Amino acid sequence: MGMFNDILRSDETIFKNVIALDYDYIPKIVPFRELHQRHMATCIKPLFQERSGRNLFIHGSPGIGKTAACRHVLKELEEQYDEIEPIYINCWEKNSSHKIMMEICEKLGYKLTHNKKTDELFKIVKEMLNKKSVVFVFDEIDKAEEHDFLYWILEQIYKKSIFLITNYREWLLNLDERIKSRLTAEILEFKPYNFSETKNIMEQRVGYAFRDNVIEQDAFEATVKKTYEMQDLRKGLYLLREAGNLAEDKSLRKITMEQIGTALRKLDEFTINKEDELDSDTKLIFEMIKKNNGSKTGELYKIYAKGGGNSSKKTFSRRLRDLEKGKFIVAEKVVGGSEGTTSIVKLASKNNERKLTEF
Ligand SMILES: Nc1ncnc2c1ncn2[C@@H]1O[C@H](COP(=O)(O)OP(=O)(O)OP(=O)(O)O)[C@@H](O)[C@H]1O
Ligand SMILES: [Mg+2]
Repeated sequence: MGMFNDILRSDETIFKNVIALDYDYIPKIVPFRELHQRHMATCIKPLFQERSGRNLFIHGSPGIGKTAACRHVLKELEEQYDEIEPIYINCWEKNSSHKIMMEICEKLGYKLTHNKKTDELFKIVKEMLNKKSVVFVFDEIDKAEEHDFLYWILEQIYKKSIFLITNYREWLLNLDERIKSRLTAEILEFKPYNFSETKNIMEQRVGYAFRDNVIEQDAFEATVKKTYEMQDLRKGLYLLREAGNLAEDKSLRKITMEQIGTALRKLDEFTINKEDELDSDTKLIFEMIKKNNGSKTGELYKIYAKGGGNSSKKTFSRRLRDLEKGKFIVAEKVVGGSEGTTSIVKLASKNNERKLTEF
């Protein structure tokens, strides 16, 4: 037990509330997104007058406050108004109509879901929700495998607002026309924060998370600068938490450039592509994607086969998945259309590398 005694010996901590650095922590205020939140509130407003609300399509790059702003609005709604039911669903976790209906049942406190089919669940949901008004938020909507649930909700839930959130504006273009015409969503774009906004938000989080004066000024400035360059606050929060942990490991009272530097190197290990480590076939496929950025998987396979590639379609798909996992590429699912479900393959750029939450 000596090892843990040693590690746990010091109960002094530089953290005041480490939870404030969690990615899903909802801050008390979400500065610089007031106008966005107001737009969301305007879409919900008709629900207070027993009318149906407006729908909203929210898009923007990772880590810039889309989820935070939206959850903040829902929280206020939940705390202050009983007549409107907020339902937040992350479609990365719940990616099918069945899982989504199960989740809604659970949120509504309905427990007898076992062995029920999706449409039976939907009937139950419909009955419960049509007694009220509802705000649905489907976050990471591009990860939903199919969209029947949207069609159902649009058709059969009377007083509602639906918010869809994604990193990809194009997602809306590929949506089934029948859903699109019923949705007629307003569009709300989130743009990355500028330098002073980034700094301000990080100052606020440091204030929640650490005891006073724990971070040396130059270390903080360097973290802000890096976060601004990466245009992703989630990465900035990672740096702060990791640097804090590193300082604690050494029983230091301050976070200095040294810890921030180490945290940065760790972050780079996540995000730097190690192209040299790819096997030759995968490398060939990657080179081909570079030349045909934005093509569909089927088209890519044709180009690959024509160019002398001799792996089967199945192996080819596996290599694409490997490239996606390694954050060399991003495969954006397109549901529906003449080809059924397919994916558009793009090179990973600064804004669509894999998210930290995926590690
Ligand atoms: N204006 C803000 N004020 C305080 N914290 C913020 C603000 N904007 C973002 N954050 C924080 O940054 C982190 C990332 O934000 P959020 O999860 O909302 O990103 P996102 O835009 O939804 O990204 P993704 O597309 O990857 O889901 C969260 O911890 C969030 O609390
Ligand atoms: Mg989000």
